[in-house]
Amino acid sequence: MLESVSHAFEMLGDQVWFFRFIIVISVICVYRTLLNYVLSSNNCANPFCSKCLNSNSVRGRAISKIKNDGEEENSLNSIIHNNLFQHDRLCQKSDEKPTVYFHRGLGSNAAKLADQQVLIDHYDELRQEIVKFFQDNGEVQWHRFYLYKSGEENKGNCEKLPKLFEILHSLPNAICINNNYCLFGNCFLTRLVTNNSGEEKSQNGFTNCSIRMHFGLMCDDQSSAYVLINKRRRLPIENKVTTLYNGALEHSIQNPNSKQQVFLTIDFWHPDLSPDMRKQLAYIFRADV
Ligand SMILES: *[C@@H]1O[C@H](CO)[C@@H](O)[C@H](O)[C@H]1NC(C)=O
Ligand SMILES: *[C@@H]1O[C@H](CO)[C@@H](O)[C@H](O)[C@H]1NC(C)=O
Repeated sequence: MLESVSHAFEMLGDQVWFFRFIIVISVICVYRTLLNYVLSSNNCANPFCSKCLNSNSVRGRAISKIKNDGEEENSLNSIIHNNLFQHDRLCQKSDEKPTVYFHRGLGSNAAKLADQQVLIDHYDELRQEIVKFFQDNGEVQWHRFYLYKSGEENKGNCEKLPKLFEILHSLPNAICINNNYCLFGNCFLTRLVTNNSGEEKSQNGFTNCSIRMHFGLMCDDQSSAYVLINKRRRLPIENKVTTLYNGALEHSIQNPNSKQQVFLTIDFWHPDLSPDMRKQLAYIFRADV
């Protein structure tokens, strides 16, 4: 009696091991089938696929940052994540090819920013400061003079142009001022003396959620430089005039008659972005992302 019971137990034990074996095999099969499906489909279904995340790029790091924040549900984060994730597909379908971040659904009609008027109102003071700066520094040899570069302030340069620095702080939409340390924040002076088309290649900006603006300060009145957009459209850069465009489109600056041109460049938030979205974008795309 006792013997037959222990025998039955042994039999059952063998079968348990057999079932475990079957389960392991079937899990492996299902996993391989899914993997094959994912690899063969163009639209990678795996949101954390290391190949798609391109983990060395800014975009990859931004995605991981959102993923790490994932605990608290955040609708802004999920919009940004969605845009990041579909980046390549969005760029394929559009003339806009920002190199880092494509924000969908922003209005495309020529935006009007309050900042434009502020700059125009202070044109004379700004020009005076730049003229003096040139006098004091002889024939300064710079091409670009950065106050803010990709979110990082250049303290020394800011101190050299206090008026500009002050006016910059009164601009409600300037990225570098209102959202400290955001990768998209730039403010610099450009001085052209030659036909730049050779050196300055056509390029696309980081994102379409910022609007790039040039403001002519000491430009040649007879022969102006211009922004060439998509190799076709020309936007002149003139004194006391603000020139706005979407930096995500391919653009370059041309100075056909090699006259001296000095102008200011500032990046602004697109007016459609809410203050909360700006804050979140600045947090995800910190200068050190
Ligand atoms: C991206 O932003 C620009 C303005 O900077 C806008 O003109 C364009 O329509 C936006 N693109 C999309 C797809 O929303
Ligand atoms: C400047 O560049 C433009 C565009 O490449 C060219 O057509 C023009 O001849 C150049 N001008 C001079 C003076 O080199």
